Amino acid sequence: MGASQLALVMGLFAAIVVVGAQVPGGLHVGFYSRSCPAAESIVRDAVKAAVAADLRNAAVLLRVHFHDCFVEGCDASILIDSGDTSERLAKGHEGVGGFDIIEGAKAQLEQACPGVVSCADILALAARDAVLLSDGPFYEVPTGRRDGLFSSVSLAGDMPEVNDSIEQLKSKFKLKGLSYRDLVLLSGGAHTIGTTACFFMGERLYNFRSTGGSDPAINPSFLPNLTATCPNGGDVNKRLPLDPMTEFTFDAQIFRNIKDGFAVISSDARLYDDAGTRSVVDFYVGGDDIGTGSGRTSSSLFGRDFAKAMVKMGQIGVKMGQIGVKTGWEGEIRRVCKSFN
Ligand code: HEM
Ligand SMILES: *[C@@H]1O[C@H](CO)[C@@H](O)[C@H](O)[C@H]1NC(C)=O
Ligand SMILES: *[C@@H]1O[C@H](CO)[C@@H](O)[C@H](O)[C@H]1NC(C)=O
Repeated sequence: MGASQLALVMGLFAAIVVVGAQVPGGLHVGFYSRSCPAAESIVRDAVKAAVAADLRNAAVLLRVHFHDCFVEGCDASILIDSGDTSERLAKGHEGVGGFDIIEGAKAQLEQACPGVVSCADILALAARDAVLLSDGPFYEVPTGRRDGLFSSVSLAGDMPEVNDSIEQLKSKFKLKGLSYRDLVLLSGGAHTIGTTACFFMGERLYNFRSTGGSDPAINPSFLPNLTATCPNGGDVNKRLPLDPMTEFTFDAQIFRNIKDGFAVISSDARLYDDAGTRSVVDFYVGGDDIGTGSGRTSSSLFGRDFAKAMVKMGQIGVKMGQIGVKTGWEGEIRRVCKSFN
């Protein structure tokens, strides 16, 4: 190989290294600060209006971001509405919503800066704003995601399920590059707000692990509350709070509930089945923000750690060389979140 060829090869190599380095660098805080300076405030106002109209929308917006990120990374694949094979119809996404709120924010963004802000970033920002409006922590969201070009029910087959064992939950998070600590922080942590349908309580209350009885992890003093709200064969659409003690406040109370047998859904209770995840729950029970309300203060360990885990979830795939967040030239910026361009 001649000197000029060598230089060419080395030049190409350097170019590849630079492009490679841009993949994780493609997401950064303030990605829209020049291209659409009002982007974050437009999303914030849309979330504020939605939560003012119905407090429950905060939880809905937090959940839809999680469901987006766990299938092909956070790429707004869950928002596509293209008939009966759309990912959003997957069994693992049962009850997920907030689509109209995101679409409303997108319409305003298209007026302000057409073709600039991705639906995937709107989902990530809206989740952050929803947490803050629930007295949870504020955190900066790295942005620059692009919207994916695929949506299929078949891609959503490995969502964590409500009646999974702790081993299944840990391994499903691990597949996404998330640790058992992230599992506790994100799933336990997020369930400090919001509700579940009785639909998800059936197995836990009436046929736990095919025993014909209820989950022994339920505190006996709490079981009658749950069975009264969700009677066997009753209305599966009836809803109950995931954290009955402080339903609308983003705090660490849920971890005390889990420890004491007051977890509502099975997957939260399972976080106490395993020595590793149990020690994480116990750590936050011993923290400084039980009962006093919010995870917002900088002294709140839970608030700070939850925020870090959210940022990590928001980047699934970036560091793993697997299908995940799209950046740079990948994907597209949709004009309408429910349709490919
Ligand atoms: C171990 C994994 C998880 C499982 C099995 C799980 C399961 C569930 C179930 C069954 C519901 C009730 C849904 C309904 O009836 O509408 C729910 C609600 C919710 N989940 Fe999770 N979840 C998990 C992780 C997460 C994560 C990581 C987040 C966010 C970071 C999250 C946020 C929420 C929120 C905010 C709600 C309340 C939604 C509402 O009020 O409409 N979940 N989850
Ligand atoms: C677990 O729950 C899902 C619904 O989320 C259900 O389809 C499945 O049959 C349940 N598994 C068991 C073992 O009960
Ligand atoms: C359970 O039900 C009783 C009686 O209705 C009520 O006083 C109590 O606050 C409920 N506990 C929880 C945790 O919801």
